[in-house]
Amino acid sequence: MTVDVHETAEDVALSVAARLGEALRHRPASTLGLPTGRTPIAVYARVRAAGLDWHEARTFNLDEFVGLGATAPGGFRAFMDRHLFGDVALLPERIGFLQGDAADLDAECARYDAAIDAAGGLDWLLLGLGANGHIGFNEPGPTLVAPTHVVDLHESTRRANAGAFGGDWRRVPPRALTVGMGPVLRARRIVLMAFGATKAEAVAAMIDGPLTTACPASWLQTHGDVTVVLDRAAAARLRPLARR
Ligand code: GLP
Repeated sequence: MTVDVHETAEDVALSVAARLGEALRHRPASTLGLPTGRTPIAVYARVRAAGLDWHEARTFNLDEFVGLGATAPGGFRAFMDRHLFGDVALLPERIGFLQGDAADLDAECARYDAAIDAAGGLDWLLLGLGANGHIGFNEPGPTLVAPTHVVDLHESTRRANAGAFGGDWRRVPPRALTVGMGPVLRARRIVLMAFGATKAEAVAAMIDGPLTTACPASWLQTHGDVTVVLDRAAAARLRPLARR
């Protein structure tokens, strides 16, 4: 893993936006994996302003709440429309999204994995990090799941997502669909970003801890091309190594 520590969260966003821009300029027909959450908002704002050519690009988002369709307030698709898709020339048929309101959720997950495979996998995957070490909605637990799947969200994760549901965590759907660890770890290049002290423990477990299903992000240690972009606060609990 390459660890890139910046002074502030704004510097982290600048660096990640530059990396995403480079990826698209280098290969305009890239297939990008994209996250939601508070973490990437500033990246998307900078990417929108960068005037990149999105015509040949394809995207797959990581997750969606069960029960929420493309226009549902609080849903991740609505989030992406607001923060990125509404302002870039990405063709609608090239936007991959899990349909949280699908009648058959298992079939929806299988459709999504097949669509990612048909696109040739993810060229460039941006990840945020849950304070409990989740990536996408791959939650800590006794096991991790490789294919895209339905997941029961931890209460702490529902609380962390309450902002989009009037601040009331009980209104956050208890289940979600998430891209599994398989498509994540098969992505050709991964950039994970995190900032703030609330992420410091998960960051340390991800980078310096053992491989464990108790920290899904720790499995990124097995990938050959991961860059972790942090601010000082998120990096505070890392072991001091000369390479950082
Ligand atoms: C969310 C998303 C993740 C995201 C993480 C961190 O619930 N499912 O993809 O990376 O949790 O969220 P935030 O960026 O708001 O801290």
